[in-house]
Amino acid sequence: MSFREKLNLDKLPKHVAIIMDGNGRWAKEKGKMRVFGHKNGVLAVRDAVEGAAEVGIENLTLYAFSTENWNRPKLEVTALMELLVSTINKETKTLMDNNVRLNAIGDLRSLPTRCYKELQEAMAKTASNTRLTLTLALSYSSRWEILNATKLIAADTASGKINAEDINEKLFESYLSTHNLPDPELMVRTSGEHRISNYLLWQLAYAELYFTPKLWPDFRREDLFEAIYNYQQRERRFGLTSEQLT
Ligand code: IPE
Ligand code: IPE
Ligand code: MG
Repeated sequence: MSFREKLNLDKLPKHVAIIMDGNGRWAKEKGKMRVFGHKNGVLAVRDAVEGAAEVGIENLTLYAFSTENWNRPKLEVTALMELLVSTINKETKTLMDNNVRLNAIGDLRSLPTRCYKELQEAMAKTASNTRLTLTLALSYSSRWEILNATKLIAADTASGKINAEDINEKLFESYLSTHNLPDPELMVRTSGEHRISNYLLWQLAYAELYFTPKLWPDFRREDLFEAIYNYQQRERRFGLTSEQLT
């Protein structure tokens, strides 16, 4: 029986976040350049998005480029940005066909102009799609996001728009770039690394973490279903005792 068939569709996470890792190692295993891995990673993105839409996941967030990734060799950064432009361009039709809305979080202004424009166009085009919200974390890091929120809150406090006493979790969240998304219940990282790498630190506070040794270009929807099935077998206690939950 496939994991797809084993899924309990009444107990799906509303938001799955993924760290797509291992493109470089995948390419190296094949004696190719790292960029070859990134190109093949796009196929995995398409399959994961379609798979998520197929079973009824409402929000999928993919870590595509971190703030720290800017420090990679220039050749790789340039290739990644070009791949981003061409992928967004090519995949907009797939997004439309699957009723997927494209969203992005991160320091988008730091992206090359062409990337930024392509992204804005695709987001505008898909804005009224309702089946799945696909969020790309681009030039994103969680510490950047939290600091950014803090600065905005400080400015609004100074100008009298908000009172310091009113700062609570709900208000803080409204200043994060994920303000219109529920917190992810499940976070998946590929490539066997067991770390968060500056991803959604606030939002993942109570997420279930799932790690797979598969390298991202080999990841397919059935792997996503396996992760969701694994998530569905867990007991989420949120600080309570097991007895309190029943
Ligand atoms: C993930 O794969 C993609 C990005 C970070 C852009 P990597 O490029 O990190 O591949 P590895 O981890 O070096 O194998
Ligand atoms: C995290 O992967 C960022 C993305 C997947 C975009 P990295 O490969 O950059 O993370 P580290 O360096 O292994 O922590
Ligand atoms: Mg990596």
